[in-house]
Amino acid sequence: MSSAAVAYAQENHSRFLNELKDLLRIPSISTLPENAADCRRAAEVLAAELKRIGMENVRLIETTGHPLVYADWLHAEGKPTALCYGHYDVQPPDPLDEWHTPPFEPTERNGNLYARGAVDDKGQMYMHVKAFESLLKTTGKLPINVRVLLEGEEEVGGEGIAAFVASKPPELKSDFALVSDTELFAPGLPTLCVGLRGMIYTELEVRGSKTDLHSGMYGGAAPNPFVAIAQIIAKLKDENGRILIPGFYDDVQAPSKEELGSKTLVGEDGYSVLERTWARPTVDVHGIPGGFTGAGAKTVIPAKATAKVSMRLVPDMTPAKAFEQYKSYVEKIAPKGVDVTVRLIHSGDACIVPVNNPYIQSATRALHEVWGKDTVFIRSGGSIPIVGDFDRHLGVPSVMMGFGLPDDNLHAPNEKFHLKNFELGIKSIIRFLEETGR
Ligand code: BES
Ligand code: MN
Ligand code: MN
Repeated sequence: MSSAAVAYAQENHSRFLNELKDLLRIPSISTLPENAADCRRAAEVLAAELKRIGMENVRLIETTGHPLVYADWLHAEGKPTALCYGHYDVQPPDPLDEWHTPPFEPTERNGNLYARGAVDDKGQMYMHVKAFESLLKTTGKLPINVRVLLEGEEEVGGEGIAAFVASKPPELKSDFALVSDTELFAPGLPTLCVGLRGMIYTELEVRGSKTDLHSGMYGGAAPNPFVAIAQIIAKLKDENGRILIPGFYDDVQAPSKEELGSKTLVGEDGYSVLERTWARPTVDVHGIPGGFTGAGAKTVIPAKATAKVSMRLVPDMTPAKAFEQYKSYVEKIAPKGVDVTVRLIHSGDACIVPVNNPYIQSATRALHEVWGKDTVFIRSGGSIPIVGDFDRHLGVPSVMMGFGLPDDNLHAPNEKFHLKNFELGIKSIIRFLEETGR
């Protein structure tokens, strides 16, 4: 692990950390309209930093939503080109009162850095930037060609980047993508993620009457949309967790024998926890806003109820087909007297990435050097919609080299990034780029 760049990363560790803290202070919450300016500011800060360290063609690319950040360095003639992806947007921080220190005031505690976005994904994205800096400042060049593409809408479905990637711009011509937005299987265990679930995120609306009704004058005769929505939701799954949408499992691909070799045994009930989270589809309800939820009591039959319902998809399911199956099932099971509307909010494909390529090989070599252990290959139950698009539109396989931990509290209060993983992550990426350029 004795490269000049690794030594530079070591020497500059505390400055790197301070810069990351500055980035984490920007509340770039992509889903909240009131934080749109913060998202742009995060993009601008990253663009300025990429320029400062010597990346070229740095610019913001406008989308229908928050801007993309692009940069490149393409002077490694005859060497492969990496497309380094990350996202600068974060999830909302609520519930605020459960944070031990404020979400946008990054704080070091027991070897961790606590802040919203610490690990998902600002901290991990920043490891790439600091790896480039370490290489450029010590050797004056990068070992391979690098393109950087950062987005600000990953947490809300990534519409802007999807359109950009689908247009196959020459700026994205590359041999593989490097994505650090996943986690280690266990602390200290170098891990490459080779599969993600897709998803469809929907909103279900059930309307009873034109307007709210007095529950004494009308109760018993008028349909209640909350009861109806509960009945619909109750019919999405049985007590054993099996999804009841007709045809939903038709396209589910069973994991290959090779893959099963690396997993725990299948339980009596059919599927192990890992299979359930990595290789089986889900239905979840995220919230049922509406009606009377204030303090005290109000006797009303609300005119409508809505529910946010999402489904995780696995290969070879497709978002369009899953949505159609779900929609027609809900329309069929809707109780009498209510109208239902099913809306698609966003969707993304599942993916499995091939492991028989030289980039995965050099990644495992680099990881072994830095972590002293053989790499484990895992899938993850989460979704990163653009990874499937890199494959489909650009024909580019992804190396998903992430350094989060299973208890990093992503999307939850007290999100953290283990500081040792930030340090070893930067070193791993430096060594990965060096190995790939060898
Ligand atoms: N980085 C996560 C996805 C992830 C988490 C992958 C842990 C592997 C391990 C990403 O930022 C995320 O949260 N994605 C969303 C996507 C959705 C909003 C389209 C998700 O999975 O809910
Ligand atoms: Mn992420
Ligand atoms: Mn996330």
